[in-house]
Amino acid sequence: MLKKEIQSALNKQVAMEEHASRSYLALALWADEAGFEGAAALFYKQTEEERGHMMKFIKYVLEAGGSPVVSDYGKPLPRPKSFKNLFEIGLEHEKAVTKSIHAIAELAWKEKDMATFNFLQWFIAEQVEEEDSFQTILNKIGLIEEHGGSLYMLDRELAMKVGK
Ligand code: FEO
Repeated sequence: MLKKEIQSALNKQVAMEEHASRSYLALALWADEAGFEGAAALFYKQTEEERGHMMKFIKYVLEAGGSPVVSDYGKPLPRPKSFKNLFEIGLEHEKAVTKSIHAIAELAWKEKDMATFNFLQWFIAEQVEEEDSFQTILNKIGLIEEHGGSLYMLDRELAMKVGK
């Protein structure tokens, strides 16, 4: 049986993942409207992934004998000011998710809830990948800014990355 404090933290994470899914959909729409086909495809894919994360948390809470709740985490992420800002927003958001997941892991450890601590290990590893994915794109934008090149070429590469 989940302790109340842990269940509440897990349910807050359910809301955060749902918020991420919805926010990334808004970012995908921004990119689509701006004509950035690759970035749009990437964020549409992220939308699905975040929904998958939300479902993982919901299923775990159920399996652990708890009661999952889907609540509203808050307002969607800000509207991007540029192509680069799109990924800056994504990276900042992922950093916030990492911080939140680490805090739940610390709580689970403190409460000696090894099942929850173990469940969170997948997310801890996943967050390293998620942050790296956005950071790599920002690094490439930095290279283009510094050494020339075109955003079109970068956007094509993003499209290929997601098989579009
Ligand atoms: Fe569900 Fe991108 O963290």
